[in-house]
Amino acid sequence: MIEEPKINRNLALELLRVTEAGALAAAPLQGRGNKIAADQRAVEAMRESLASVDMKGTVVIGEGEKDEAPMLFFGEQIGNGLEPEVDVAVDPIEGTSLTASGLPGAISVVALAERGTMFTTHVHYMLKLVVGRKARGVIDLEMPVEWNLRRIAKAEGLPVQELTVVVLDRDRNKEIIGQIRDTGARIKLITAGDVAGALEAALETRFGIHCMMGSGGATEGVLAACAIKTIGGDIQAKLFLKDDKERQLAVSEGHKPDKVLCIDDLVAGKDVFFAATGITTGELLKGVRYEDVYAYTQSMVLRSASGTMRIVDAYHPIDKLRIKGLLPEQVRVR
Ligand code: FBP
Repeated sequence: MIEEPKINRNLALELLRVTEAGALAAAPLQGRGNKIAADQRAVEAMRESLASVDMKGTVVIGEGEKDEAPMLFFGEQIGNGLEPEVDVAVDPIEGTSLTASGLPGAISVVALAERGTMFTTHVHYMLKLVVGRKARGVIDLEMPVEWNLRRIAKAEGLPVQELTVVVLDRDRNKEIIGQIRDTGARIKLITAGDVAGALEAALETRFGIHCMMGSGGATEGVLAACAIKTIGGDIQAKLFLKDDKERQLAVSEGHKPDKVLCIDDLVAGKDVFFAATGITTGELLKGVRYEDVYAYTQSMVLRSASGTMRIVDAYHPIDKLRIKGLLPEQVRVR
């Protein structure tokens, strides 16, 4: 018998408007070299849009602490206060530097799950291993890179040399990059944006990416887990602790610092909702474009209860965006 979801409406469709607002607000600043201003615009737009969603939300993955982040800070109550009670993970711009430099792959992201079911931490980085549906259950983050790639290759029915692995191009990932190279597998190095990288790996048949390895943001790991919970695939992660101070922090948060976190540790909820909208065009989603009288957005909307993945193209009248403040008067688009 199929278990009835506790949240009986598709909140992700409401979240779609939230990430569209974030992307539309950030897009006029793409390529203008100011990631802080772009982020601020996206935060404000998403905050306003989230306030009208029917939910009693608590931000568990957000912009930072109350004192340094005036909006969408960890612990902030959000939504219009009606049921359901949910955890909210939000990243108004996932790829602030990509946006500021006009580079591909920046997205605006939000995820929800039942209250108290999302992993939350202030530790900066997480080691991640992400695969698609075929390799679900065959990975083990405690085992060597080669061991994992051989198992993934077997599950995919490919020689290891035909695997493509996404890795964030960082010094701290150099060792892993070397170990992947030693197996002969291909690497797609990304400069930022590992939520999109994780999604491409989870949706391996669409993107030809079989795996994501290496360390990236911890909060991005939780967002990725929310999406993977709805689309299938698998993620394992572990806090990547820079020093003793971070180890203490993890302990004080009630975490076992060396524990391998499985998907249910990252998001235990059964009703998970995820939405993302492209800011700059990438492989996962197209970015905001201004066409004639419309601004175009492309979004991904996911709900775990149904497993439905929607890709939504939307056209927003430019004059209305100007009224809403999502497109400043001084920005000429045609
Ligand atoms: P921002 O949007 O906050 O700039 O994060 C982008 C990102 O590349 C994430 O996708 C990734 O998880 C994280 O930064 C990696 O952090 P760092 O750049 O410090 O290595």
